Amino acid sequence: MGLVVTIDGPAASGKSSVSRELARRLGWKWVSTGAFYRGLAYAAIQLNVDLDDVKALAELTHNPVWNVSLESDRTRVYFKNQDVTDAIAHETVGNFASKVSHYPEVRKALLDAQRNCSNGEHGLVAEGRDCGTVVFPTAEAKVYLTASSEHRAARRATELGLDHSDMVKAQKQRDHQDSTRKAAPMSVPAGALELDSTELDLNQVVDKVEAFVKTKI
Ligand code: DC
Repeated sequence: MGLVVTIDGPAASGKSSVSRELARRLGWKWVSTGAFYRGLAYAAIQLNVDLDDVKALAELTHNPVWNVSLESDRTRVYFKNQDVTDAIAHETVGNFASKVSHYPEVRKALLDAQRNCSNGEHGLVAEGRDCGTVVFPTAEAKVYLTASSEHRAARRATELGLDHSDMVKAQKQRDHQDSTRKAAPMSVPAGALELDSTELDLNQVVDKVEAFVKTKI
């Protein structure tokens, strides 16, 4: 396994933008591990797989009908060879992803694919909910990024062109699900840099994360 930096945190805390920019500065790859849960949920819906059928969901994790591809701009998801990255960005898919992610069998089935994103040739910035605790527990540097719920909802509502107060509600529900589930709940990894990005712009956040990472690698 190559060098790994993990960035965990709640929905819309800026993890993807920070990971993308940090990876660009370091010349590393990056992955949004949420894409695995979103892709699985999307494929399940398209194929009429019951979101409560754990066995069928675990089998679907290995079905080549869908796959995740690490690209420098986004972590892309393909379903039946179509790029569905925009479709899986919707909050409804995020909520279905959160639902399927609470099954330990599903999480276990996706673990190897997530770990294989670090192949040793380049460093990897991995973002999600359990990257520093479960997926890459021996990562060189761990970050936990947050921001006020109002700020996060405003950010995502603007991105998706949706109503702000609906988004606050949807994200609160998703964060509650993600932090209270039994399997690999969202939590601050030991030794992580905790950073609140509410009052910072993207470059200020990445400057702080990069300075921290440079003390660790
Ligand atoms: O980061 P995101 O919004 O794309 O993640 C979508 C859902 O996937 C999130 O609500 C919970 C789940 N997820 C997870 O359980 N573990 C991860 N490492 C990443 C995402």
